[in-house]
Amino acid sequence: MIPCRSPRELERLRRSGLVVYEVLREVTAAVAPGVSTWDLETVAERAIQERGATPAFRGYRGYPCVLCASVNEEVVHGIPTRKRVLRSGDVVSLDCGVVMDGYYGDSATTVVVGGEAELPPAVQRLLAATRESLAAGIACARPGKFLGDISHAVQRHVEASGFSVVREFVGHGIGTHLHEEPQIPNYGAPGAGPKLREGMVLAIEPMVNQGSAEVRVLGDGWTAVTADGGCSAHYEHTVAITKEGPWILTQP
Ligand code: MF3
Ligand code: CO
Repeated sequence: MIPCRSPRELERLRRSGLVVYEVLREVTAAVAPGVSTWDLETVAERAIQERGATPAFRGYRGYPCVLCASVNEEVVHGIPTRKRVLRSGDVVSLDCGVVMDGYYGDSATTVVVGGEAELPPAVQRLLAATRESLAAGIACARPGKFLGDISHAVQRHVEASGFSVVREFVGHGIGTHLHEEPQIPNYGAPGAGPKLREGMVLAIEPMVNQGSAEVRVLGDGWTAVTADGGCSAHYEHTVAITKEGPWILTQP
């Protein structure tokens, strides 16, 4: 069963969503050559704490940090470390979640150290296509649509752009837990799966590879990397389904 949240609950999810937005904004501002991914972890932790929120990731299935920072060929779940020092042109996906008052928010963005202009055009297109695929998925988050419409919209845009969708990781329902029903693959058939209803809250998160879709997980048990060493991008928003259409909770 996919929970449908009341307006009161949506207001709480909105508060958590905006905290995640602000945290990611602070972390993004801290990204620069010479900064380690551990430095970003400390920025995220302080930003969460200052807002009276609690990290959602640390301790989740034993994950050790409040932030995931995945660099270049790392797809998702990169564990911040002092050893990973960023250089100009690195592509870093930043993923963070918080819980406040019992309600969760979860969002991810991908940033380029030194700015997107530093990138080869093919990687610029990867980032743009991933952002656009998230927007295409979000546009389907309306009452009366189906879960498969979201999945299909993401897949269609990614593949039409010449990139590939990661299959091993999925988006998810979110509310009083970080991960709730349903799972949201970034590929699928229109009209498939459960019908979307007012009050459902979904974390939609395309992970897109430049080359092959294949990924493997490193010996740390968390860091997912592309099998071919190509670059990968990840964007995520927590979105509520309302009568008026999609409400992006993790964006002002
Ligand atoms: N945004 C990812 C997810 O929703 C990040 C989870 S990291 C974890 O699955 F540590 F919490 F697992
Ligand atoms: Co998520």
